[in-house]
Amino acid sequence: MGVAAPPDLSLDVRGLLSEGTHLIGGEWVAARSGETFEVLNPANQEVLLRVPRGGPEDVDAAVRAAAEAFPRWRDTSPSRRAELLFRWADLCHRYRREIDLLERMEVGRPSWGPFSPIPATLRFFAGMADKITGTTLPTSAPNVLGMTIREPFGVCGSIIPWNVPGPLMISDVAPAIAAGNTIVVKPAEDAPLTALFLARIAVEAGIPAGVVNVVTGFGAEAGAALPLHPLVRHMSFTGSPETGTQVMEACARNHIPLHLELGGKSPQIVLRDADLEKAVPAVVRSITLNTGQVCAAGSRVVVDRELRGPLVAALAEAFGKVRVGPWYEDVEMGPLISAKQEQRVLGYLDLGRREGAEVVTGGHKLRGERFDRGFFVEPTIFDGVEPEMRIAQEEIFGPVLAVISFADEEEALEIANGTRYGLVASVWTRDVSRAVRLARGIQAGQVTVNTTGSRGVIGAPFGGYKHSGFGRTMSADSILEYTQVKTVVISGD
Ligand code: NAI
Ligand code: MG
Repeated sequence: MGVAAPPDLSLDVRGLLSEGTHLIGGEWVAARSGETFEVLNPANQEVLLRVPRGGPEDVDAAVRAAAEAFPRWRDTSPSRRAELLFRWADLCHRYRREIDLLERMEVGRPSWGPFSPIPATLRFFAGMADKITGTTLPTSAPNVLGMTIREPFGVCGSIIPWNVPGPLMISDVAPAIAAGNTIVVKPAEDAPLTALFLARIAVEAGIPAGVVNVVTGFGAEAGAALPLHPLVRHMSFTGSPETGTQVMEACARNHIPLHLELGGKSPQIVLRDADLEKAVPAVVRSITLNTGQVCAAGSRVVVDRELRGPLVAALAEAFGKVRVGPWYEDVEMGPLISAKQEQRVLGYLDLGRREGAEVVTGGHKLRGERFDRGFFVEPTIFDGVEPEMRIAQEEIFGPVLAVISFADEEEALEIANGTRYGLVASVWTRDVSRAVRLARGIQAGQVTVNTTGSRGVIGAPFGGYKHSGFGRTMSADSILEYTQVKTVVISGD
């Protein structure tokens, strides 16, 4: 197969974003320090664009701009806020190719087709902007009225990771601003371009200056300053457990609530009566999609020991057919995002071998002309994995599947629940009673039966149990996380 030339990326990106600026108070400005850093194409390490290296001063400017914009935005009619969010959704639909291209470039992923969840998420929350209500309360005195009103917090902060920057930004920003808050987003240093472009079209949609701000920069510099800022009243964080702890400590110091999403080690429980024709492609996709860099990746197969042999053989065959290559070719799996992530995944591949697991397929960095300048690893299956091994316990965030077998349903549940995580899980069976028992017994924020993902269910709450975090995105309730309750008592005497 010949080597396709990458499209002229810098040209495309520069048509969408200006070099070296981020968005503070409606202005595209450089970092206070004047410094920038490079955003790379993970397939070949070419520079896509330079963005500001924001630090505490830039975060301060953005939070102040958001604080200044807050009272007017809070007092804007909720119907008008909804209208502006709908307009933003329309523009996200109109620019869906550009948004998709930017995200593919910086994350290094192949096309997922024309569908984007972004407009639908924006419309979902736009539709809720004018439906946030309080309650009236019973009283023991007839001359008194008691009621609650739900008010926005003020300035929210959002720190997002690099794996799916567009949808993750929108799932924080949409409910926050629909409820009347303003927000400062700190995208990941590896993938800030989609967030900058989404902010650009928020401005184009007429969302007032200062309501949505984006400060680019590194975690320890820009990121660390955000939850500590005294004017920030609510935080959302998605990323690693280690950084999540630091953000939570900062929120504790600042006495602010936090929405936390820290990934998973999600089990795919395959029972003896599972329909393997359905299960196999779903299992393969759930660990190769985005090169396994998905918080909900199905990274553990927990399989009935009677079915282990045939399932592993079928998975190995399917893994061998996954087309891997640069995102701009017709492939199913691209590179990992960065040298750091590649080191991490290769480290786990070594660790798995040392722990005594058996590599069924994959296990190496990919070599050759198409791969040498990027961060490509083979989709890998480890068989004979024991539940206590580190490769069965820790989030690898790469295309690495651990196969663990069980003797009975009780053991399946014990293995499924035997990590610190609890984000999602899937169960593959034709037996409804077992499906119900497992769906009840699994400790995870989302359990799917004979499917992965939410399969078009609208408003399905998403978030973790245990160390996977707390709070739910996407649901009708999640907008309430961005409000605080005020009780009002009116005496008629
Ligand atoms: P990270 O958790 O350090 O980065 C996520 C975000 O936090 C980025 O925007 C980063 O700039 C910011 N950040 C970093 N340090 C910060 C600090 N001290 N204060 C405030 N913000 C800070 O994740 P990283 O280092 O990019 O990846 C390491 C591992 O984390 C991955 O290999 C993966 O296992 C896991 N991860 C999980 C994600 C998920 O969605 N579950 C997403 C990204 C990473
Ligand atoms: Mg980090």
